[in-house]
Amino acid sequence: MFFGHGTDNAYDEAAALVLHALRLPAAANRARYGRRVSRAAAQRAQQLLTRRIRERIPAAYLTGATWFAGVRIAVDPRVLIPRSPIAELIERRFAPWIDAARVRRVLDVGTGSGCIAIACARALPRAHIDALDISSQALEVARGNVRRQRLARRVRLIESDHFGALGAATYDIIVANPPYVGVRELAGLPPEYRHEPRLALAAGRSGLDSVRIILTHAAQHLEPRGLLIVEVGNTERAVRRAWPQLPFVWLEFERGGGGVFLLTREQLQE
Ligand SMILES: C[S@@+](CC[C@H](N)C(=O)[O-])C[C@H]1O[C@@H](n2cnc3c(N)ncnc32)[C@H](O)[C@@H]1O
Repeated sequence: MFFGHGTDNAYDEAAALVLHALRLPAAANRARYGRRVSRAAAQRAQQLLTRRIRERIPAAYLTGATWFAGVRIAVDPRVLIPRSPIAELIERRFAPWIDAARVRRVLDVGTGSGCIAIACARALPRAHIDALDISSQALEVARGNVRRQRLARRVRLIESDHFGALGAATYDIIVANPPYVGVRELAGLPPEYRHEPRLALAAGRSGLDSVRIILTHAAQHLEPRGLLIVEVGNTERAVRRAWPQLPFVWLEFERGGGGVFLLTREQLQE
């Protein structure tokens, strides 16, 4: 078994699946653990656990939801399961990198389930968020999530190949968790990852295809002193090697995870 989709151990996943089967909330009071379980509920739990183990389906696809920055996000195999450490940065309202009060416009590149765009809209109540994705199927899932959070007025979903459909629009912050897995790493991923859309993971031979496009065009879409924040995960080393001249700031996270860099518009232009 591999635990890389929001949990890091079997106990938490088993708890999520069993609580889901018993129709109890994920944060159910432990006092309820002593309750008797009907045969039907026990069967539902057994089925979910069996599918998790035999088919190696990530738990979030079995329960149909996960949590991101305190928000319940519905997921299915049309979208990557949200797990970006960028959630923590958004919860901190991008401190200390920008004055959140001056943020009016944010762009989320490769929005998938819409998790980053939704978290930004909640953390920055005066900001408007454009959330783009090349996958119309992912955008359908994102649309449902945006609607459930009642954020349709401030989160605009755009079908676009990177910045292609944006015209000359500019933003205070561009956030991206693009595909960044290279061919060799992709072939070696545990079976759980094969249930996720290939489009959400694969980024050419060395995993740099999408990051390269973002680095080339982001400055055109940033306001003065605007920020570009990109997750590249394990591809961090390849990114450092490919662009030795760029003064990347690699962010640190209290809750773990890494491989996220930050650059300003001015640094990108230089
Ligand atoms: C790693 S997933 C991130 C999803 C979501 N932002 C998250 O953090 O969970 C990358 C997303 O980028 C999208 N994508 C892939 N190629 C793209 C492209 N050329 N233009 C725009 N989006 C793209 C994929 O469809 C996928 O939803």
